[in-house]
Amino acid sequence: MASISCCALACIVLFYVSVPVSAHKVTDNPADKLVAELNSNRTARKGSSALFNNPGLACIALQYIKAYGGDCDSVGGKNAKKPPDAEIAETFAPNCGVEVSSLAPFTGRLLGCQSKYIQPKQAFSDILVTNDKALEIVHNSNHSEVGAGVSGADGGGPYFWCVLFSNGKGNSSFAFEGGVAKSTRPGCYSGANDDCSGSYSFFRHPRLWPILVGAFIVMSYASLV
Ligand SMILES: *[C@@H]1O[C@H](CO)[C@@H](O)[C@H](O)[C@H]1NC(C)=O
Ligand SMILES: *[C@@H]1O[C@H](CO)[C@@H](O)[C@H](O)[C@H]1NC(C)=O
Ligand SMILES: *[C@@H]1O[C@H](CO)[C@@H](O)[C@H](O)[C@H]1NC(C)=O
Repeated sequence: MASISCCALACIVLFYVSVPVSAHKVTDNPADKLVAELNSNRTARKGSSALFNNPGLACIALQYIKAYGGDCDSVGGKNAKKPPDAEIAETFAPNCGVEVSSLAPFTGRLLGCQSKYIQPKQAFSDILVTNDKALEIVHNSNHSEVGAGVSGADGGGPYFWCVLFSNGKGNSSFAFEGGVAKSTRPGCYSGANDDCSGSYSFFRHPRLWPILVGAFIVMSYASLV
């Protein structure tokens, strides 16, 4: 009896220890996986190079998602909305600790959301890059860098994916104050070796999914600049 409860305790301890450990792997960051997928799609074509994965730009992509307040219907279709450009310098950059003076122009934008969480590779092909226009944006030669953000709303779906492209110069654009990436939760962004453990539960234990039963939605939007 004692050995059984001891084993159970060991199992519980092991479970709680192993979850944070695996969550600390950079490979567990869905935003980094999305950038990897995008870059491999680019480099598979002659003449397009891999883009620099800029954490400051990616943090702004995550802020961009937050501006939608979880409203998937506002992403695409006839009710589509776009955060005002002024928000970038006034709100998004300060929230990220990105120096406003280092902001560079965007050269493209891909945004999508879906009620269900899917793997980054699927998000790339099934939500974000579903037509020729979006594929052209992925391969556009004016981009030099990319940043991706992914987040659920209120600890569950819908799940938003945002990719921003810029022609800024490497790490001198979208630079963090003091050179240190600022962590913003919930959600994950690419390029910062962000373990994303704080949002681990959003992606693996979607307690709020039952609310969405019968309300499957997919929306996406793609544009240059
Ligand atoms: C790039 O992504 C698009 C959209 O998912 C896909 O149709 C295309 O086959 C991909 N290209 C390569 C080389 O993987
Ligand atoms: C790159 O940007 C320039 C200036 O905005 C524009 O004229 C050109 O068409 C763009 N090239 C592509 C491939 O989109
Ligand atoms: C930018 O990256 C280069 C090479 O990785 C590094 O040497 C340099 O210190 C970085 N600059 C800043 C401002 O982080």
